[in-house]
Amino acid sequence: MNEFINFIKSRRSCRSFTDQSVSEADVQTILDCALAAPSGINRQTWQFTALVDREKIQTLAAAVAKALGRDAGYDMYKPAVLILTSNDKESAFREVDNACAMENIYLASEALGLGCVWINQLKDCYDDPDVRHLLHEYGVPDNHGVYGSAAIGYKAGPAREKVITARAVIVK
Ligand SMILES: Cc1cc2nc3c(=O)[nH]c(=O)nc-3n(C[C@H](O)[C@H](O)[C@H](O)COP(=O)(O)O)c2cc1C
Repeated sequence: MNEFINFIKSRRSCRSFTDQSVSEADVQTILDCALAAPSGINRQTWQFTALVDREKIQTLAAAVAKALGRDAGYDMYKPAVLILTSNDKESAFREVDNACAMENIYLASEALGLGCVWINQLKDCYDDPDVRHLLHEYGVPDNHGVYGSAAIGYKAGPAREKVITARAVIVK
């Protein structure tokens, strides 16, 4: 089968990362792939903000944990990179556009030999005052919601097994 089709089918989320950092060139490539994703009416009202400082990522994780009442162990899997996918809160396409970009981020990470997993919690607390303060400090526009985040790094272990349980149907 076509190599790229096999590549798409074999992608899996990674939830365990090594301490190795990711090169800025690789982060830029992943961001370029996010920017290349489709968006409704090609509005591109999104922004992709890559945090490459582990301390900044953990500061944000701690604020998210506090906002959502999560336990202190919440660490977004301690990635080397966290990409925040944000979009204009007023955009009708905000969440679907960002989901398209997230899949590009997943695939680009995998293509570069990196692991990636979607981190969903920011969408439920981006306007918490402490979280918003950090997002502002990290350059996320104040009129944006964060509708997904990608934790990225070198894989430290195998991905979880996955069985496809949903149906896809061809109607003739
Ligand atoms: C909308 C969405 C939200 C997700 N949120 C999380 C999350 O917060 N934490 C996590 O570990 N995985 C999260 N995931 C990853 C899914 O759990 C994962 O894609 C699913 O288990 C299938 O596994 P696979 O990605 O390896 O194919 C999310 C995925 C999607 C599409």
